[in-house]
Amino acid sequence: MNTKKSNLQELKKLEEMIRRCDRCRLYEYRKNAVPGNGIYNTKIALIGEAPGRNEDIEGLPFVGQAGKLLEQMLNSIGISRQDIFITNVIKCRPPENRDPLEDEIQACKPYLLKQIELVNPKVLILVGKYSVSTILGVNLKISHLKGRVFIKDGRYIFCTYHPAFILRNYSSYIEEYTYHFQKIKKIIDELI
Ligand code: URA
Repeated sequence: MNTKKSNLQELKKLEEMIRRCDRCRLYEYRKNAVPGNGIYNTKIALIGEAPGRNEDIEGLPFVGQAGKLLEQMLNSIGISRQDIFITNVIKCRPPENRDPLEDEIQACKPYLLKQIELVNPKVLILVGKYSVSTILGVNLKISHLKGRVFIKDGRYIFCTYHPAFILRNYSSYIEEYTYHFQKIKKIIDELI
């Protein structure tokens, strides 16, 4: 738990750049960019897809229904969302919550990679196909990768469903989702 002071300053600067960013069309629609939140001084980071309506209004990630479920899942394994770093692949809300476009992902990707480099988490939790494809560079369906752990650049990367998908398919998937979070806990307990 010793993110360097210079890294913390760089992270703050990066946050400011993200708030003013106009690298893709999404800046035209946003109320607020959503750089991320939680703490920088952590060994665990979670990456989602893109801000939705509530996130755009508040400028914070995962503050809507999907965020509530995520928080519940984290709490169930003894983690508070304030103890980890949470961000998204895309920092501005796509209109009508449409899927992010490839050029938007590419425009935003340097921010995400820099955040990961500076926070330097040991464990990355990827929720949903966009964070998986952006970080792992594979275009496989989440059904092929969920529940699996990969090691990349010395980090343990765990892939699972996006919480919005679980909300839409609650009774069929909540048990598996709970199991995934138990698995995340095991990895964290072993590593941290
Ligand atoms: N969905 C995401 O992927 N990220 C958020 O911040 C909110 C909903």
